[in-house]
Amino acid sequence: MAAKIISGRELADQVCGELRERVERLQEKGFTPGLAMVRVGEDPASVSYVRQKEKTAGKVGIYSETIVFPEDIPEETLLAKIDELNRDPRFHGILVQLPLPKHIDAGKVIEAIDPRKDVDCFHPVNVGKLLIGDPYLLPCTPHGVQQILLRSGHSPEGKHVVICGRSNINGKPLFAILIQKKAGANATVTVCHSRTPDLAHFTRQADILVVAMGSPRAITADMVREGAVVIDVGVNRIPDATKKSGFRLVGDTDFDALVELVEAITPVPGGVGPMTVAMLMWNTVTAAEIQTGLVS
Ligand code: GUN
Repeated sequence: MAAKIISGRELADQVCGELRERVERLQEKGFTPGLAMVRVGEDPASVSYVRQKEKTAGKVGIYSETIVFPEDIPEETLLAKIDELNRDPRFHGILVQLPLPKHIDAGKVIEAIDPRKDVDCFHPVNVGKLLIGDPYLLPCTPHGVQQILLRSGHSPEGKHVVICGRSNINGKPLFAILIQKKAGANATVTVCHSRTPDLAHFTRQADILVVAMGSPRAITADMVREGAVVIDVGVNRIPDATKKSGFRLVGDTDFDALVELVEAITPVPGGVGPMTVAMLMWNTVTAAEIQTGLVS
C-alpha cells in the first residue's frame, strides 16, 4: 500500500486560517500583531526563509518588517537594534535569522531579545520554561512537527518517538515537547545523534521517526520499520543542472524508497518547512494577545 504523504502546506493553510480569525479579534480591539525580523548577510537559504516568513505574515494579517544588515556589521550595532526593537510597541515578536556570521556571538544576541518577544523560543529563559513544562511559547520547528502529527491523526501519545539530531533548534526542544505529561505529548522519546553507534538499531524501533540531521537522504529504507510514521525535518540543497536555480531540495530521508514502506511521511519541500513558518505566525499572534492583555 502506498504511504500517505502528509502535506505540510495544507496543514499550514489550516493553521493560518485559524490565526486570521485570532488576528481579526485583535484588530477589533485596535491591535495589529507585529513581527520584526533581522537578517545579517546574504546567505541564500536565509534570504529565502525570511522572504517566506514575510509572505505568510502578510497573508495572516501580521505587520512585519525586515531589517537587513551587511555581513560585516559590528556586534554592538546588532545589539543596539535589538534593544530598539525590544522597546518598539509595534512589534510583539522579534526574530534574528540564524546562522549569524562567525564574528557575532549568537548566544549573546539571542539573550538580548526580550523573552516576551522571543517568538523563536531560543532565549535561555524560554528554553528553561519549556523543559520544566511551563512554556511561554513553543519553538517553531518542533511545534510544527507536533502539530503535523496531531493534525494528521498520528498522535505521539504512548508512542516510541525516535529523534535523529540533537540541535538546540530541533532535536533537543522536540524531545522537551514530546516527553511532557500533557495531551498531545506523553511519548517515549529516544534521541540519537552523530555519535550514536548503530543508528539503524534505534531508528528501526521507532513508531514515529523524526529526522533532523542535516544529512541528505541519510535514512534509508532498511533503517525504518514497515508502518512507521516519518517526519523529515531536513532541508538540503543538492546540485541539479536541470533546475534554473542549479539546485533542488531533498530531505534527510530517502523519500522515494520510504514512501513504499511507511504509514505516513512528510515530503521535502512541502512538509515541515511550511509548518515551521505557520508556527512562527502562531507565536507572533499569541505574543500579541499576551502583550495586549487579550489573554494571560
Ligand atoms: N535558522 C534556521 N532555522 C531557524 C529558525 O527556526 N529561526 C531562526 N531565527 N533562524 C533559523
